[in-house]
Amino acid sequence: MAVKVLGIYGSPRKGGNTDLLLDQALKGAKEAGAGAEVDSLRVCDFKITPCRGCHACTKAGVCAIKDDMQQIYPRLLAADIVILASPIYFYGLTGWTKAMVDRSQALWERKYTLLDPALGDQAPKKNGFFISVGGTKGQKLFEGTTLSVKYFFDAFNAAYTGDLLFRKIDAFGDILKDPEALPQAFEAGKKLASGFIPGQ
Ligand SMILES: Cc1cc2nc3c(=O)[nH]c(=O)nc-3n(C[C@H](O)[C@H](O)[C@H](O)COP(=O)(O)O)c2cc1C
Repeated sequence: MAVKVLGIYGSPRKGGNTDLLLDQALKGAKEAGAGAEVDSLRVCDFKITPCRGCHACTKAGVCAIKDDMQQIYPRLLAADIVILASPIYFYGLTGWTKAMVDRSQALWERKYTLLDPALGDQAPKKNGFFISVGGTKGQKLFEGTTLSVKYFFDAFNAAYTGDLLFRKIDAFGDILKDPEALPQAFEAGKKLASGFIPGQ
């Protein structure tokens, strides 16, 4: 059974720094051992309304807002490994990515309020990996964001297994100036997919 990897492009800047990194990570996953089955989506291609806090999802773990997020839930649930790539915007995720993360509250309710066994301790484990860049060198640049991503992953049972975080990457293509960055992303994707046994 091939490992299912979902790559999520969180930047609205097509071909930008996080895109280049995620492209490599997905390429690495495809080239891992048996080869992963790779799915990907770009959040800004979807209409994702921010969570409105109505708590309707507490009843059945289903979000009341019927927009494009409904297409993303099954893809999050189907993946064995989710690789999320988002640049830092104001010390957080991009708006599109954050909207998707907040809407995963429906999965959180499914897991923690409704105790859905498909997301419980006995369910097969999934892995999550985070890729990010920021323009500045701030020591705490990724602090809040990595926590947000950890709990986003947890909502669909994925453990935060690692990240690749780059400071001082701002202009389009800046990541190419770091000769190790893209190979690191390729290796991370390859390692993630080759070390994963689906269904366990
Ligand atoms: C709206 C906006 C907010 C940003 N906020 C931050 C920030 O808080 N800290 C930082 O270091 N860089 C910040 N940046 C810079 C981006 O993280 C940087 O340009 C990054 O390389 C963009 O990645 P991308 O090419 O994948 O879109 C911001 C950029 C934008 C457009």
